[in-house]
Amino acid sequence: MAAAATGAILCGLALLVVAGAATSPAAAAPAPADGCKSERENGSKKRRQEPPLWVFGDSYADTGNLGDLGRELTHAWYDPYGDTFPRRPAGRFSDGRVLTDFVARALGMRTPVAYKVRRRASRQKLARGMNFAVGGAGVLDTGNFQRNISAQIDLFQAMQKQRRRGCDASDNKDDTAGTALVVVSGNDYAYAADKDNGTSAAIAYIPTVVRELREQLRRLRDEAGMRRVVVTNLHPMGCTPVFTRPLDYAGCDPLANAGAAQHNAALGSVLAKLDPANATFLLLDVHAPFAAFLLDDNSSSSSTRFTSPLRPCCESFSPDGYCGEQDENGTRQYTLCDDPRRHFFWDDVHPTQAAWAAVAATFRATVKSFIST
Ligand SMILES: *[C@@H]1O[C@H](CO)[C@@H](O)[C@H](O)[C@H]1NC(C)=O
Ligand SMILES: *[C@@H]1O[C@H](CO)[C@@H](O)[C@H](O)[C@H]1NC(C)=O
Ligand SMILES: *[C@@H]1O[C@H](CO)[C@@H](O)[C@H](O)[C@H]1NC(C)=O
Ligand SMILES: *[C@@H]1O[C@H](CO)[C@@H](O)[C@H](O)[C@H]1NC(C)=O
Ligand SMILES: *[C@@H]1O[C@H](CO)[C@@H](O)[C@H](O)[C@H]1NC(C)=O
Ligand SMILES: *[C@@H]1O[C@H](CO)[C@@H](O)[C@H](O)[C@H]1NC(C)=O
Repeated sequence: MAAAATGAILCGLALLVVAGAATSPAAAAPAPADGCKSERENGSKKRRQEPPLWVFGDSYADTGNLGDLGRELTHAWYDPYGDTFPRRPAGRFSDGRVLTDFVARALGMRTPVAYKVRRRASRQKLARGMNFAVGGAGVLDTGNFQRNISAQIDLFQAMQKQRRRGCDASDNKDDTAGTALVVVSGNDYAYAADKDNGTSAAIAYIPTVVRELREQLRRLRDEAGMRRVVVTNLHPMGCTPVFTRPLDYAGCDPLANAGAAQHNAALGSVLAKLDPANATFLLLDVHAPFAAFLLDDNSSSSSTRFTSPLRPCCESFSPDGYCGEQDENGTRQYTLCDDPRRHFFWDDVHPTQAAWAAVAATFRATVKSFIST
């Protein structure tokens, strides 16, 4: 539902080849085949552990899977990204922690390792699950060559198969199943808007996107064996700075917001049919808290937390520029706010750590109880 700007792609990538993140599934042999050996040795004495968390999605969830392909293509590996946490750019599209970190925290566990760095991860770390989400990804292909959701699930299944091979049939307690978090934040629509004619063209894609998302959700339950699947709805996309900048940050784009609402209604009815008893799927409502902070200026508690919530902390001089841009002499081509804790948006499309914390506070208890029952 983005306007014409390529900046609307969630990772801020131009629509150029981004091969780094898309290594072939053949390279996807991560988990030590002896993953179940330690399980056996430690037997029942093993401390009860949270079920693993497997994350699929885009830059709202990515914790470092997008390769570093230079400042212009992959902003998250450059200043000022990561200023708040981990105090250096490390591939998160924010000043600090992102949605994945807060969902993990809500479940009482540490953030699962990013797929990209799985080879350097300890066995204990790998037991917590893995994050396959990558900035720029969509349900459909978004022209960035990032793995779409389906390809991310392929990686998971390849890994699962390999782990099973390493275990005795007699000891085949499936320790890979667990919770899936699926974060789809609108790259499909940003890409459609770029490719075709803006927001209304993007809206025409909603049935296709939701149908394909439904298929991937079904697959996570019926084929990948996830016990619980938490899936986000769309935030009010028309309130992201890429839309509000042309409006002088004074209001949101109503058509893009209507599109997000339409996507959410379609997703809601898909889930109701797929899982009438709400046994497996939880719709994680990010729309409501985003809207409360961004649209509802007068509601006392939300308005005081973030000053001018439609204006990003990190703002490029030029509307075509990006957060982190430098000129040929290394001079910053952006302004940075004094305190990202007072801003909802970090850059043109991504929330600050403070925003994610505030959003997550609204669903922490719901997620926790859904997973533990
Ligand atoms: C058994 O569990 C303990 C404590 O969690 C851990 O330190 C140890 O490495 C485990 N043993 C194996 C063989 O993985
Ligand atoms: C997702 O990516 C895979 C692998 O590149 C591709 O085969 C598939 O067609 C894509 N799915 C969609 C819905 O575009
Ligand atoms: C797309 O926009 C261009 C120029 O704004 C216009 O000429 C064309 O008819 C539009 N196409 C569609 C399919 O709406
Ligand atoms: C399942 O969840 C939806 C959305 O929260 C709710 O409207 C519905 O009543 C729930 N169904 C059951 C059987 O609890
Ligand atoms: C917010 O409050 C001001 C004055 O108290 C009022 O004029 C304005 O209409 C309110 N805005 C909304 C969105 O309720
Ligand atoms: C970069 O520095 C050179 C040498 O000082 C200067 O000539 C040039 O104009 C500068 N470029 C920009 C974009 O400021």
